[in-house]
Amino acid sequence: MGKISGVVIEVTRLTDRISSLVVAATDGVALPTWEAGAHVEFDLAVGARAYSLVSFDAVLKTPTSYRIVVQREDNGQGGSQAMHAMQVGDPITFSAPKNDFAVIPDAPAVLLAGGIGVTPLISMAVALERAGQEFRFHYSGRSADVMAYPAELSSNWGDAFTLHCDGAETALDLDRVMSFVGSAHLYVCGPRGLLDAARAKAETTGIPSERVHFELFEAASTQGGDTAFEVQINDGTVYTIPIGQSIIDVLEENDVDVMYDCQRGDCGICQCDVLEGTPDHRDVVLSKAERDAGDVMQICVSRAKSARLVLDI
Ligand code: FES
Repeated sequence: MGKISGVVIEVTRLTDRISSLVVAATDGVALPTWEAGAHVEFDLAVGARAYSLVSFDAVLKTPTSYRIVVQREDNGQGGSQAMHAMQVGDPITFSAPKNDFAVIPDAPAVLLAGGIGVTPLISMAVALERAGQEFRFHYSGRSADVMAYPAELSSNWGDAFTLHCDGAETALDLDRVMSFVGSAHLYVCGPRGLLDAARAKAETTGIPSERVHFELFEAASTQGGDTAFEVQINDGTVYTIPIGQSIIDVLEENDVDVMYDCQRGDCGICQCDVLEGTPDHRDVVLSKAERDAGDVMQICVSRAKSARLVLDI
C-alpha cells in the first residue's frame, strides 16, 4: 500500500513533553488494520519518522484512525518537535503499519518499558489480556509525572503492572524483572542503556535469545565529538556526511537507492558491508564480536571513526 494522505483529528497533551495524536485518512476511509508492536512512518519536513501505534482497546479490522504518543526531544533531529507542533486539522502523510516487534499472543510475557518506549507495550498488554495470556508489565522512568499513562496502566492491569521510578524504592531492579521471566518471552522497548542492560542480564540469567525481543526507542541525536566523514560507494563517488545527518540521509538526497526501515539501529535492514575504514557503531543489532570485526555496519545510525568509509553500496 502506498502512502496515506491524512489529517490530525485529535491532540492531547499528557505531560509537558508527551502528547498523544490521532490521525485519520483525509477522506475518512478505513485504514489498514495492525497488530500490537506495529509502527507507522510519518513524512515530516525533517524526514520520515516512525512511531508505534497505541490502542487501549482491541484493534478493529477496519480502523478509521491511528493513535501515536510522542515525546518531544529538544536535542533530537526535529521529528518529535514537528509532531508536537501539529494541530487538529493539519495535513499529514503516513505509511501503512509495519511490524518488526510483534508479540506472540499464545505465550506468557514480561513487558519491560523504559520511558516513552512504553507505547508499543501498551498495545501488547491489551493483546495479551484479550488472548487470556499471563503477562507482567514493568514501566520504568524518572517519575510518574513525566511518564505516559501511569494511572491508566495501573488501573487497567493492577498487580500485573509495576511502575518503577528512578531513585525511589520502586526503582527498576533488572534481577527482579528477570526472575519473573521463567519460560515467558521478554519484550523490551526503551533507550539504548536499558536495552543493553536488559539483554546482558537476560543472557547471564540464561534466557534464550529467541525469547528476548527488543525495539530501540531513542531519538537519533547528535553526540558530542561527532565529526563529518566521507563515504565512498561502489561507483567511486565520495559523499561527505555532515554532523547531524546520517549516511542514509545523504545517500537518499543524492538519489542513491538504499534499503532501510526503523532508522533507529534496531531492525538490521540497512546493514551493509564495510570494505575499508572503521565504523563507529551506534546500533543495537550487532554483537560485540561483529562490532569488533567492523566489516558490516547499520548506515542509519552508525558513523565513522576513520576519515573515510568505503561501503559496498
Ligand atoms: S534501518 Fe533499521 S537498523 Fe538501520
